[in-house]
Amino acid sequence: MYRSHNCGELRSSHIGQEVTLSGWVQIGRDLGGLTFVDLRDRYGITQIVFNMDDNAELCDQARKLGREFVIRVKGTVNERSNKNAQRPTGNIEIIASSLEILNASKVPPFIVEEETDGGDDIRMQYRYLDIRRPNVQQNLIFRSQLAIATRKYLSDLGFIEVETPVLIKSTPEGARDFVVPSRMNPGEFYALPQSPQTFKQILMVAGMDKYFQIVKCFRDEDLRADRQPEFTQIDCEMSFVTQEDILNTFEGLTRSVFKDLKQIDLGKFPRMSYDEAMQRYGSDKPDLRFDMEFIDISDRVKGYDFKVFDESEYTVAIVAKGAADKYSNKDIKKLTEWMQRPQVGAKGLVNIKYLANDEVKSSIGKFYSDDVLNEWKTDVFTAAQGDLVLILTGEKEKTQKQMNVLRLEMADRLGLIKEGDFKPLWVVDFPLLEWDEESERFHAMHHPFTSPKQEDMDRMLTGDHETMKSLRADAYDLVINGSEIGGGSIRIHDRELQSRNFDLLGFTKEEAEDQFGFLMGAFEYGAPPHGGLAFGFDRLCAVMNGQSSIRDFIAFPKNSSGRDVMINSPSLIDDQQLVELNIALDLKDKD
Ligand code: AMO
Repeated sequence: MYRSHNCGELRSSHIGQEVTLSGWVQIGRDLGGLTFVDLRDRYGITQIVFNMDDNAELCDQARKLGREFVIRVKGTVNERSNKNAQRPTGNIEIIASSLEILNASKVPPFIVEEETDGGDDIRMQYRYLDIRRPNVQQNLIFRSQLAIATRKYLSDLGFIEVETPVLIKSTPEGARDFVVPSRMNPGEFYALPQSPQTFKQILMVAGMDKYFQIVKCFRDEDLRADRQPEFTQIDCEMSFVTQEDILNTFEGLTRSVFKDLKQIDLGKFPRMSYDEAMQRYGSDKPDLRFDMEFIDISDRVKGYDFKVFDESEYTVAIVAKGAADKYSNKDIKKLTEWMQRPQVGAKGLVNIKYLANDEVKSSIGKFYSDDVLNEWKTDVFTAAQGDLVLILTGEKEKTQKQMNVLRLEMADRLGLIKEGDFKPLWVVDFPLLEWDEESERFHAMHHPFTSPKQEDMDRMLTGDHETMKSLRADAYDLVINGSEIGGGSIRIHDRELQSRNFDLLGFTKEEAEDQFGFLMGAFEYGAPPHGGLAFGFDRLCAVMNGQSSIRDFIAFPKNSSGRDVMINSPSLIDDQQLVELNIALDLKDKD
């Protein structure tokens, strides 16, 4: 028997019992007459005591144990004289009567404890040691519980989990595909799914009615804290539903998992149109945990001989409460430089300080008198003494994006985000198409299968170029704490409309037929009205735990260059394999 109990299980009620524990040596402390060992497994840590007076040989053996040795210990549960309130097992210890080394360990390259000295790279290279750390284990356990809770909720509602294939053909979700060469079909490639979008729609045509899948998706795109090249979705689709049905169903799922796993009641989710979100927060994923809403002052600031504002399309302000006296001119200068970095690209940053002593100071004081600025204080900004107003100006879309960055930064600097606060919302009524100046083409704002709103269908079929820009879609995103957690839409289920959409997106008839003929063909055999959405499962895990990096919730994530440094992938393959896959010349030809 390797163990009678695990390392997190023993309590005062076990005192006097003979037990056997197995686990990893977290640390040993040699105090001469006594040697203490902290023995760890997934369930916790138990202190083992080796007493020189009782058994010198055993104690000697224990002294030689190194960190991360795997051992089996037998002994008696004893009440501890100096209890450790921090640990669930802190009232007891095991007086060892036997010790067996099951496997030795090299000295680990970093400390395998919650607080570690290991940097990112080394932890990923030795991920098996990293995962021994309790905080990483907790994240993976949470992920497992979230998957189970999701499956239970959806299956109770009658959803069927269906697995869709991984070797497929491109599905356009806006990223590049990962491709896999086909040995049996020389010169041809599979694409890994960016999502199971087309398959789940086919399943609706096939009458499955309510589908879900917790599924790996693959996107070859630049990585960020909330993006991995392979990530997991809770992918869902339903037939005979309206947008309202979908929002209610998945709001229900979200509320249920928050209740089950975090004991938090999220309440009813507010809804905001895309236009309103852009106008109030300059973002389609606004963080509602703090205010600092945008104040459009484009018209109000014109006519004071300040050319920059007079000639600008859009001027917008935010009010940083109580920050006027905290921000010296030097701080403002630094903040301005921060906004001028190429990543943000602001031209400048205007400020008005309503100081606590009733003075008003502003970088545009030359053009706007104190009287004017004081009038704006109440009229325009509803600001108070002590508040700092920050203003950006320029081309509307760019300036909105920049102000969004500034708003998030100021919230962080001013400590406006309360830990444990969750602010979900639905962003609805997205535009159907987005005009891309560079490529001079329309892109699908969500994806090409998204339906325009019922009232926009005729305009979509017959309208001109300008009309297309104003079409709205039955598309929605679930946003929590400023993170896009999920997105979906009501789909087109009519061949003609789908074909028109491909047309608008710049596909030729042949291209559309070649890539999506199977779907449009299926629409001709009684496709029901349908729609759905997909949650970013990794993002949901992270946001529920107040974290922004999804890597901590993935057992074996890729680093920022898309590499798995533990297995050293991607890697070269040998010439013979390249030949077999028809992506290199025959080796003989090479010479
Ligand atoms: P979308 O592309 O919006 O929709 O993806 C759904 C959700 O998946 C998450 N996500 C990611 N998470 C981690 N790493 C990534 N690289 C990544 N990309 C996306 C986000 C996002 O909201 N087929 C549609 C869904 C539908 O219409 O039903 C789709 O994939 O949280």
